Amino acid sequence: MLIRSADSSRLPEFEVTDEERFRQRRQLVKAMGLLPVAGLLPAGLEAGNCALADFAAGDIELNTYHEITHYNNYYEFSTNKQAVALLARSMPLRPWTLEVSGEVENPLLLDIDTVINQQQIVERIYRFRCVEGWSMVIPWSGFQLCNLLRRAKPTSRAKYVAFVSHVDRTHMIGMGRTALEFPYREALRIDEAMHPLTLLASGIYGKDLPPQNGAPLRLVVPWKYGFKSPKAIVKIVLYEQRPQTSWNKISPSEYGFFGNVNPRVAHPRWSQRREVRIGELKKSRTLMFNGYEAQVANLYQGMDLKQNY
Ligand code: MTE
Repeated sequence: MLIRSADSSRLPEFEVTDEERFRQRRQLVKAMGLLPVAGLLPAGLEAGNCALADFAAGDIELNTYHEITHYNNYYEFSTNKQAVALLARSMPLRPWTLEVSGEVENPLLLDIDTVINQQQIVERIYRFRCVEGWSMVIPWSGFQLCNLLRRAKPTSRAKYVAFVSHVDRTHMIGMGRTALEFPYREALRIDEAMHPLTLLASGIYGKDLPPQNGAPLRLVVPWKYGFKSPKAIVKIVLYEQRPQTSWNKISPSEYGFFGNVNPRVAHPRWSQRREVRIGELKKSRTLMFNGYEAQVANLYQGMDLKQNY
């Protein structure tokens, strides 16, 4: 495991310590031979099977805690990525409830700490690729969305899973300043939502998720562009028909409903063939499905990925 060492000139002391501790723990785990091989899901963890999937991205360099938490897209606060951390820091995160409703036999209304504490927390190192052409590698912690959906018992009519983000007009001072409508809404097809790689993240680098990255709970779908991963989720609603989503509604040609990372489909204003890893100068090649083709290509068999990006 290659991990960029913490840059102590840019990090407050407590962050250096946590990042260093995280790095040492992972090296120990690797030395003991406990990290799974890159890109492989253990047997029995094909899509649809909700068993616990341990997954590591292999020898891949992590972005630092500081990079991950100080370059953020969170339009409720600002379109300035460097300003979000400061603006979001005083947003109240408790009390917080999460609702799971719609096409389910067992609707849920749960306190967020109950949700997180009841789940088996896994650590996942995922590549994260924004539609704007930048990327990071992030060590998330969280739980598989399928475990929560199973508790709610989707009906046979449930075909889509929609996510609604929190709205706080007092603290989210950027909401009146963009064309985007709030609350921020996203959605997945149900087989995408049930896929073992689809994560509800509650932490980064083993620490609680900070507000700017979507605390207390945000979605992470590593083979899709970052706009498909809503932050600060308050509602998950299952539907029979495909629901509207925020970015797709304002510009469907730029933000396809599927939003799958695909270097062969250009954004109307730029190519998607390459990406800039935050913290690096040289561009690197963008991978089909962001490098998760072996795990997810079967979800899209027979689909024209150029039309349905
Ligand atoms: N969720 C909400 N509620 N509001 C947003 O503006 N931006 C999306 C996504 N989730 C966004 C959101 C976009 S465009 C990206 S690229 C990622 O969050 C960025 O996540 P990060 O700041 O943790 O890197």
